[in-house]
Parts: sequence; C-alpha cells; structure tokens
Amino acid sequence: MNDRQDLAGKRLVLGLSGGVACYKAAELARLLVKAGASVRVVMTEAAQQFITPVTMQALSGQPVLTSQWDAAEPNNMAHINLTREADAVIVAPASADLMAQLAQGRADELLSLLCLARPTERCTLLLAPAMNREMWAHPATQRNAAQLRADGAFLLGPASGAQACGEIGDGRMLEPDELLEDLVAALSPKPLAGERVLITAGPTFEAIDPVRGLTNRSSGKMGFAIARAAREAGAEVTLVAGPVPLPTPRGVNRIDVESAEQMLGAVLPHCATHGIFVATAAVADWRPARLAEHKIKKDGKKVAPGVELTENTDILATVAALPKPPYCVGFAAESEQLAAHARAKLERKRLPLVVGNLGPATFGRDDNALLLVDAHGEQALPAGGGTADKLELARQLVAEIARRRAAISV
Ligand code: CTP
Repeated sequence: MNDRQDLAGKRLVLGLSGGVACYKAAELARLLVKAGASVRVVMTEAAQQFITPVTMQALSGQPVLTSQWDAAEPNNMAHINLTREADAVIVAPASADLMAQLAQGRADELLSLLCLARPTERCTLLLAPAMNREMWAHPATQRNAAQLRADGAFLLGPASGAQACGEIGDGRMLEPDELLEDLVAALSPKPLAGERVLITAGPTFEAIDPVRGLTNRSSGKMGFAIARAAREAGAEVTLVAGPVPLPTPRGVNRIDVESAEQMLGAVLPHCATHGIFVATAAVADWRPARLAEHKIKKDGKKVAPGVELTENTDILATVAALPKPPYCVGFAAESEQLAAHARAKLERKRLPLVVGNLGPATFGRDDNALLLVDAHGEQALPAGGGTADKLELARQLVAEIARRRAAISV
C-alpha cells in the first residue's frame, strides 16, 4: 500500500447513520486521514448504538459531533460551521431512514440538518447506502434514491452480497477502499467529461498448446492506472485487459482477453464510439502459427520441437489507420534511446502522441517515468525528472491528453 496523498488539503465531513456497516466507517475514517484529508465526524443517535464516538474521535483526530445543541460550538451553529469549510460530506453508512430524511429536506438531527444547510454548488454530498435488501428494494427507498440523485447527490453503491441479517442481495455498503476511490474521483477535475476512452493493458498470452504459451512481463499497472485516472477525469472508460490479476478500477468497463487476436477483436467494435484510444498493452508481436490440440509431449525425444511463429496484427496501427480514428496514444517500452525510438513509432504508426518509458526499469513496479513525444517536441513526466507513482503519472498523462485533445477540437 502506498502513502499517496490523494486527498491532501481536502476538508471532509464523515457522517454515520445507524447500521451494522458503521464498523466499516472506522476504517474509512483512517483511510481518509491517511490520504491527507481533514475529517470531522458527525454521528446520529442510531449510529452511536453501533460504534462509539470515542473510536471515531481517535481515528479522525478531531472531536466528534453528535447534536445540534452541542454548546461546544461558540456560535452554537455546528451545521453552518461544518459545511462552510467542507469540500464534501460523505455519509457512510447512509441508512434508509437518513435517505428518507434527506430526500424530504428534513433536519431532525445534526447530520440531516448539515446536509440541508450545505452550499450545494461547492460542497459535494456522497451517500453510501447500507441496509437490508428488502429495505433497499422497497419502492419508497428507490424513490428517495432517485430524488437524491436528481438533487445532485452521488450514491456510492450499494454492493451485493451476504448481509448482516443472513440474507443475500443488494444493500451492502461498499468497502472503505472502494469508497475512498469513488470519493477521490468525485472530487477530481473533469477535463474528460463527456469523453469515451478505450484502453488496452497488460500482456497478451499466445497459446502454443493447451498448457503453454508465449507472454511477457508487463504487469498492466500503468494501463490500469490510466483507466482509473481517465474515469476520475470524467470519462466513460472501456479497458481491454490481457491476463493480469489486477482489480478493476471503480466505474470502469473491463473486457478480459488473452491473445492479441482477441484483443484486436475486442478493440475494433469500440473505435467508432470512443474518442480516445490509449494502447498501453504489451502485445506479443508473434504468435505460434498453429495451436497444438494436445499438450506437446517430450516422449523421450532429444530434439526440442520447433515452434513456427506468425506475425500478429498491430492493433494500434490498425486503429490509427481507420478512416475516422480516435485520438490515438501509443506506448513505447524501450531499453535505450527512448526519444529516438518513440519518435520513430510516432511517425511509423502515424500517431499524434507516443509515450515512452524504459521497459526493464518499470515492469511490475509501482513507479515510472514517462517521456511524451509529439509533433511539437518532448516532455518529461514527472516534470522535474526522476520517477513518480504510476497513478500520479497516469493523472498527469490524462491531463496532457485532455489538453491536446481539446486543442484539436477547437
Ligand atoms: N501495439 C499494438 N499491437 C501490436 C503491437 C504493438 O497495439 N501488435 C502497440 C502497443 O500497445 C504500444 C505500441 O504499439 O502502444 C508499441 O509498439 P511496439 O511493440 O513497442 O512497437 P514495434 O512497432 O513492435 O517496435 P519494436 O518491437 O521494434 O520496439
């Protein structure tokens, strides 16, 4: 786990209403503080039946507020003081009852009162519903959820799965790390709002027989980080992934493939509907000309079997040559002469942008350094040289892609 400060300088109100999922709110408070946010916790009376303010105070490092009548606030207006400072209010768990209160604009307790009193244009409201599946599915709750969305709130989840009551279905609160990812996305600038971004990532696996194949050491981390960063930037993201065990970034549509041929087959149908294509995948240049039906046996032979290879289609070059191609970004993993090789690829594949990195130095690692090469010149990321966390770099790259794309559109 890295210690990236994704919420540095952000001021948050973390609200807890009643529900077993309050135990997850303790971990969420810890993650928010670790990500650099200043967190004020507000708990309803029901929430205090599940977890104590002492725990939340220790984890947030600040006094917990439980009542609008708390005399500790000099002006006695906790609901105003809290929301005038906050960038966002996140209610986790959000009970069915609290959602009903908010949908109606009621102010029965400090938490619903401050949600009502917040300046809606600069203090985002995020709700993480948590309740029994029948309560979530009830038309009243669904009506309230729709009303809250229409009023500008973000509903995070709920997830599906086993519930505290023993039943299985929709209504579980998202996990703390998922809530953190959604919160960071909600608070990010949106230079790619309305865009669709198609991304390839990871290695491909070219089967020789049912148990063997040709592949490479690409981890997929950079492509997955770009998918997450593009979603944070407001894009609808389709991620075509080779065989990697990475979790899918929140809100990203993932299509799993194995071979280069499958990757091409997954990419092509999406080119007309996606305005940006980022090819980070380490696609095998060659595949076995024939797939052996059964495992190739040694059978006491002394001579190794020859594997005849045939060339794979270049996915990126194929997309870039379409009559109306998306804005295509290529990657160049090199071991030397980065700028020269990246520029050669830019010209050979007729791309507006190639991103170079030194392959052996970055495979499988969490940090990287990029060199952006386009018709105007070269640009290093991170700007000051050195390396940076892949997600941080992905965010910078996405901002650069958005800037170049906007310049073309005007
Ligand atoms: N790429 C692709 N389909 C392929 C091969 C490559 O889409 N069959 C994409 C990669 O995703 C990457 C870029 O093309 O964006 C880099 O291609 P690369 O394999 O490095 O370039 P080559 O043209 O094969 O050059 P070389 O092997 O000499 O480095």
